[in-house]
Amino acid sequence: MKLKVIFSFSLLFFLFSVNSGYTEDKYKETREIFNWHCSQCHGSLGNGKGVNNNSRLPVSPRNLTDGKDMSQFSDSDMIRTITKGGPSNDLSPIMPSWGNTISKKEIKNLVLFIRHLCNCKFDPKLKHKRLQQAGKIK
Ligand code: HEC
Repeated sequence: MKLKVIFSFSLLFFLFSVNSGYTEDKYKETREIFNWHCSQCHGSLGNGKGVNNNSRLPVSPRNLTDGKDMSQFSDSDMIRTITKGGPSNDLSPIMPSWGNTISKKEIKNLVLFIRHLCNCKFDPKLKHKRLQQAGKIK
């Protein structure tokens, strides 16, 4: 009986550690890239509250954890913006271009990481609505 209890506890502990190790490791390298290059503006949690964000900026660094806002961007929108900077997507030049600094594969991983942060999928209808609101399309 005692042995059974000990065995079940160690099994539970084993499963728990394997599981938590997996979730932690999945974004580890990408999180480091994000902390190095992106967190000054977007914040290390991705909530847009980095040290560079202040009220004098004409456009605030986006809150990448806001699923309702971020679902207006497709994966290719994000890849383009990150690679070529804000203006490539008709957005603010305060969002720099990273194509010469970060590899294509790392940029794809950053997009997966941002999807994890916002817990959101692309919503084409929202994109259309936001472009209309901004007067970029009719
Ligand atoms: C100098 C500040 C700054 C840094 C550094 C920065 N960003 Fe941004 N980012 C911005 C601003 C400002 C916006 C909002 C642009 C707008 O809405 O006009 C933005 C918007 C975005 C968006 C949403 C727009 C879209 O088309 O997808 C994503 C995604 C993004 N940034 C990712 C990143 C990633 C990844 C990094 C690091 C590799 C990064 N940013 C570094 C300022 C910054």
